[in-house]
This record gives sequence, C-alpha cells and structure tokens, in this order.
Amino acid sequence: MPNEKVLIVDDEKLIRWSVRRQMEEWGYTALEAESGTGGLAQIRAEVPDLILLDVRLPDLSGIEVLREIKQNNLSIPVIMITGDPQLDDIKTAIKLGALDFVKKPLDFDELQISIANAIDRSRLRSERDNLRDEVKKRSGYHEVIGKSPRILELMNFVRKVAASEASTVLIQGESGTGKDLIANAIHYDSVRAEKPFVAINCSAIPETLMEAELFGHERGAFTDAKAQKKGLFEVADGGTLFLDEIGEMSIYLQAKLLRVLEDQTIRRIGGVKDIGVDVRVIAASNRDLEQGVRDATFRQDLFYRLSIIPIFIPPLRHRKEDILPLVEFFIDRYNYRFRKSIKGITQEARDLLLLYDWPGNVRELKNAVERAMILEDADFIRPTYLPIQVTGQPQAYENPVPVAVPEGAMTETAAMGSATAASWRALASGKMIPVLELPKQGTSLEEVERELVGLALKQTAGNQTHAARLLDISRDALRYKMKKFGFDSDSES
Ligand SMILES: Nc1ncnc2c1ncn2[C@@H]1O[C@H](COP(=O)(O)OP(=O)(O)OP(=O)(O)O)[C@@H](O)[C@H]1O
Ligand SMILES: [Mg+2]
Repeated sequence: MPNEKVLIVDDEKLIRWSVRRQMEEWGYTALEAESGTGGLAQIRAEVPDLILLDVRLPDLSGIEVLREIKQNNLSIPVIMITGDPQLDDIKTAIKLGALDFVKKPLDFDELQISIANAIDRSRLRSERDNLRDEVKKRSGYHEVIGKSPRILELMNFVRKVAASEASTVLIQGESGTGKDLIANAIHYDSVRAEKPFVAINCSAIPETLMEAELFGHERGAFTDAKAQKKGLFEVADGGTLFLDEIGEMSIYLQAKLLRVLEDQTIRRIGGVKDIGVDVRVIAASNRDLEQGVRDATFRQDLFYRLSIIPIFIPPLRHRKEDILPLVEFFIDRYNYRFRKSIKGITQEARDLLLLYDWPGNVRELKNAVERAMILEDADFIRPTYLPIQVTGQPQAYENPVPVAVPEGAMTETAAMGSATAASWRALASGKMIPVLELPKQGTSLEEVERELVGLALKQTAGNQTHAARLLDISRDALRYKMKKFGFDSDSES
C-alpha cells in the first residue's frame, strides 16, 4: 500500500475534493493548496513526494510555480493538469522538467497510471543516487578529506580548475600528499569525466618506450613496430592524461611534450600527418621543478607552460588539523574493509599522531591506521599499535621473541608490532628470521620496508653507512629508499 504524500494545487474546490478522495482510496496521503503561493508555502512546510499542479491558478501560473520548484533544486516529480492544453505551456513545462500532462476533466484511470509511474521513477532515481553515493563512499573514490584552511582553499581551487578549460595543470607536493588523488578529482569533477583518465609514470619507463607510449607509432616505424599503435595522447582524447613524476622525463621528450601542448596535435613515430587531440594534461612531481630548471634537468619553457595552473599540496606536518579527520575517514573505511567496528582512537594515541611529523604524509598516516586497525582488538586504537616512528619508542611487549601470527589476523607490518626491540635488533642484523605468515587480506610490502629503514636509521642515529650495513644494502640503495619514504637525508654522517 503506497503512503506517499501527494500535493494537489488547484483553485477549483471540486477538483481538489474529488482528487483527494481518489488519492486516499489509492492509499496516498493528500495535501491541498488552492493557489500558486499556497502551493509553494505548503512545499516549504512539508515536502511532498509528488505534486499535481494546475496550469491556471489565480496568482502565479502553474508554470511559474514549477520554475520556482526547479530553481530551488527540488527533485519532486510534478504532473501538470490543465483544462485547456496550450502547446507553449506543454513545451515550457517539459523543458522545466514536468513529468506528465493530464487533461481535465480528469480520467482517474489515466491519472492513477501517471502518478504510479512518476513515483516509481523518482524512487528509482533516489535509489540510484544513494547507490552512487554509497559506491563513492566505499571506494573512497577521489574523496579528498581535510578541514585545514589550506586544504579547503586548495579544494576550492581544484573545483575551479576542474570546471575550467585549463589544458595544463601542474601538481606539486611531497610524496604521499595526494597528488594522484587530486589529479583524479580534477578529472572526475570535470566535463571530461566520461572520457578516459590515462595515467603514466614518467620515471618507470625508458625514454624510447615512453615516446612510443605517448605518441604511438606507425607500422614499421622501428624494428619492433609490427603494427600501427595509438599513443596515450590519442587514447586520452577528450579526457585527461596524467603524467606522474614529470621531473624524471628526459629533456628530449620534454621538448616534444611542449610542442604537443602548444599545438594540441601529435604525430605518431614514423608518421607524416598531424593528429589533433583534445587532452587536458595534468603533470605531477614530488621534486622541486624550479630546482630542476636551475640544474638544467628540466626545461624552463615547459615549466612555464605547465605551471600556468600550479597546485601545491602542502605536507601533512603543515596542516595538522587534517590528521584527525583523515584518521576518522580511514577508520571508517577499514572498518568496512576488515569487517571491524573500531569506534575511534584514544586521547593518548591521538596526541602522538598530532606530535609526529609524517614525512611520508597522508600515505604514511593511512598505513599507520590500517596497521593499528588490524591489530587492535579494543574499541579504540591505542598507542601500543602505532608504528615505532610515531610513538618514538619500541613497543614494550612481554614476549621476548617474534611471535607467530594468529591465523589470518595480522599483516606482516602488524606482526612487527609484536616483536620486541631486542628481537628487532637481532632481525635487523640478520641474525634472526621472524616467524611471519602472510595474512589473507595481504599486506603492504612498502610499509614493511619503510619501517625497517626507519628502524635502521634510528638505531644508528642516522648514520647512513651503518644503517645500510645493518640492512645489507648499498649506501646508494639506502639513500634511494630514504628519499622514497621521505626520511630526512640532510643529516648525513
Ligand atoms: N586529503 C586526502 N584525503 C583522503 N585520502 C588522501 C588524502 N591525501 C592523500 N590521501 C591518500 O593517501 C595515499 C597517498 O596519496 P597519493 O597516492 O595521491 O599521493 P602522491 O602525492 O601521488 O604520492 P607519490 O608522490 O608518492 O606518488 C592515497 O591512498 C590517497 O588516497
Ligand atoms: Mg603519486
């Protein structure tokens, strides 16, 4: 039995009376108004599920009422009723979003079908909207969290950039600050959203392959070019091309890229014709590109071209107000993913998170929350399960050796939390292999690595030579990892 509220706006008392009687018989709740302004007041007082709106009213016309409703962004379905259908009215009403027109004198069978359809459609739409919101929420899709003035201002700017025609955008920020996330947000908030978002990491691919990737090639252009291939610029046509770590791109390709940005055309390798492309290029770098320009590793002209719209994401340590909202967001997400119901974080753990510097930025924070949530069996995350870098001290456990991990309950990173400082020293010097089990849901190898690097540096008070020896890697490898994980490498010893 339906119990939707239907508002009838008609100045004829008899019509209101008969429609109300029918509505109630069909199981709807009927509300009434006898004028346009009365109808609008009624909507403000109680939003109905459907409106039956007479075109001719004593004050405002039905069309004006409809316009007002739509201007207020109300998605209530509206069915117009009229004794004297005028083509112009019908056209305008449909343009404004009226769902149907029903003629007077009313045929109640016809009206019943029209109402049922309208309500079904709106129910479907709201279910679809809810579902979409839910999917977005659950996948955390380009949801940028933060309430610091700097991030709010940044998001404001990002929205403007997304809506603009800007063809190039440059995002700079330390590793883990959210450059990928913002690039995605720009694409999916723009009119390009339905077209491809294509991402490529400039540091991962050798120059010659990169050139073919970006611009494509004709058949026979070089030995391996057995068939013609479209480049990413063509693939991304109408959409966005995300060039990550642009600072690593070779000078030769930088010159080629600049030409494409300027002409909006590409030429495949071995090709003779210019192909027009409409692509927004978002470049990102965690290196200071201006420094690159000074060192002559980055072309100045390209830098100017890219930085027409510059976005700088501040490191997390400069916007500590974002830490707790982010923690809450990640708790929510991991509760869902790990089917847990952690309610929050203790005051003590919170203070530690706020004190810490987060060299790995949001990524590091996210990993810390993930790990704590896997380990924590109380309702609130306690300091015990925060990484050693955050708490500033090895965790005091009673168990003297690394313990076997309870089945499926922990990740490798998590298991690290249950080792004593002594056992870690032993582990780091290669004298002991911990008993680890890979949990069913997997783990982040990167984070394990990061933690070991941090531990080695801490133990050697930042002496890189000694730390590298502890980890049995070269000093260059250590330096590379330190850079990658955002450890301060200034304090060389
Ligand atoms: N403001 C934020 N709100 C929610 N999640 C965030 C936010 N900033 C970053 N993240 C999350 O942190 C992680 C790291 O972000 P991202 O990969 O975008 O960083 P990045 O700047 O591209 O790092 P890198 O330079 O290493 O490529 C991702 O999981 C991302 O979703
Ligand atoms: Mg990135």
